[in-house]
Amino acid sequence: MSFDTMNLAPTILKAVNLCGYTSPTPIQEQAIPQAIAGKDLIASAQTGTGKTAAFVLPALQRLTVPSTAKGKGPRILVLTPTRELANQITEAVRTYGKFMRLRTGAILGGMPYFEQQRLLSQPVDIIVATPGRLIDHLESGRISMARVELLVLDEADRMLDMGFSEAVSTIAAATPEGRQTLLFTATWDGAMEKLAKRLMKDAVRIAVAGKKATLELIEQRLHTADDMQHKNRLLNHLIADSGMTRAIIFSSTKRNADQLARELASRGHSAEALHGDMTQGARNRTIMNMRRGKIRLLVATDVAARGLDVTGITHVINYDLPKNAEDYVHRIGRTGRAGASGIAISFVSFRELDELRRIERYIGQSLPQLVIAGLEPARPMQQGSGSRTGYNGRSTGGRGTAASAGRRPFSKAPSYRSDARPSTGRKPYSDSRSDARLSTDRKPYSDYRSDARPSTGRKPYSESSFAGKRDAKKSGWAGDARKTEAFRKARWS
Ligand SMILES: Nc1ncnc2c1ncn2[C@@H]1O[C@H](COP(=O)(O)OP(=O)(O)OP(=O)(O)O)[C@@H](O)[C@H]1O
Ligand SMILES: [Mg+2]
Repeated sequence: MSFDTMNLAPTILKAVNLCGYTSPTPIQEQAIPQAIAGKDLIASAQTGTGKTAAFVLPALQRLTVPSTAKGKGPRILVLTPTRELANQITEAVRTYGKFMRLRTGAILGGMPYFEQQRLLSQPVDIIVATPGRLIDHLESGRISMARVELLVLDEADRMLDMGFSEAVSTIAAATPEGRQTLLFTATWDGAMEKLAKRLMKDAVRIAVAGKKATLELIEQRLHTADDMQHKNRLLNHLIADSGMTRAIIFSSTKRNADQLARELASRGHSAEALHGDMTQGARNRTIMNMRRGKIRLLVATDVAARGLDVTGITHVINYDLPKNAEDYVHRIGRTGRAGASGIAISFVSFRELDELRRIERYIGQSLPQLVIAGLEPARPMQQGSGSRTGYNGRSTGGRGTAASAGRRPFSKAPSYRSDARPSTGRKPYSDSRSDARLSTDRKPYSDYRSDARPSTGRKPYSESSFAGKRDAKKSGWAGDARKTEAFRKARWS
């Protein structure tokens, strides 16, 4: 299918072409025609596969027909959990709506009221909002929902997790009965079902394969860490890799994110923190600097886990594992977007074994463990020789062990990739994927110690599975780095 056959207005097609998109992604292929036909949709798809355009393009198509309703309120309302996401979607609306005459803007917390009041003082086409601030405007009568034709909930499950269930319901209740509703969610549970029942009629469900699955183009690895100091040493080693163009380092607390960003900056890295205790102005500046390439290392809490689309993020590092297995999928999905490849590295201390097990069970695969010469854990976590994934052999611990034998010492290692390698002769990740088993199939970690095998001569990553070679060709929807770059330029410059 191509965008040309989707009955989109020429002005929209022109903007899509300018973005460099040659064909729709699977979720766009399924959602856009149904949304244009006026259906209510419940949709999910993997990270970075173009869900934003899947709802923005049909929304813009609606706006090609003038409204008959009187009033100033928005015709399209998009609700989203985070302020960064609201800004990002607003920019996407401007990009895809570049050749249309639109009044659009974001309503979000932490920003001055007066600009938002000015936006709402004239008829407006699309509003992208976080629920809390929108409720403020609604309650004070500054916004009317009477003209809303289309309500979109992006990251609906996250909005519920953040306690916005009541706010979302209140906002939806203020919109006309006959409106269309599009709901994008990564998970489906009782609360989501209740919400969907309240908001939607005869909704069509679209689940593009493997909503839980991580993208094939994201290379996932883990390092066992003894403690925080060990994590810091591992991080220092990894960020010396010149192949790490831009990275997000996820930390579990705002305080640690701040501290880590400060430490990295003091060591001469262009690093900044992003978390919910910062002023919105500072958050906006940080994101802008990241997009402009002024920040190489963003140390963030889960505020950056969902939806954030920054081109050129080569690595995601989980300094701490997320408590919630779903968040792992969202976090690592900040890389490997739009058909590009990426690397996701997780540090796992023994305290985090439960989280690791939950994550592996959730994604249905085991994470290959890597050991860096000179930075071996004192207590290696050893995993099963019986595992069909084949990453059974591990360092037997300590310096100079079999796993690190024959490799250059840390001080001489020019980069992570040439230095670290999986400890067995396992096939590259992409090849062994189909063999991946649920982690529940494995023996508990403690059972594995005696099974540890020495490293064999597997090629380092740079020569094998990761080198950006697998990019767009494999993804099939012509998302590639060049196209995304063209879009990025259009959007953010
Ligand atoms: N048809 C397309 N062809 C090429 N690139 C595309 C296409 N559609 C969207 N993209 C690009 O893909 C990237 C990811 O899009 P988007 O942010 O909408 O993903 P998403 O599915 O919402 O991800 P997440 O689950 O993380 O929110 C964007 O940079 C966008 O420009
Ligand atoms: Mg998204």
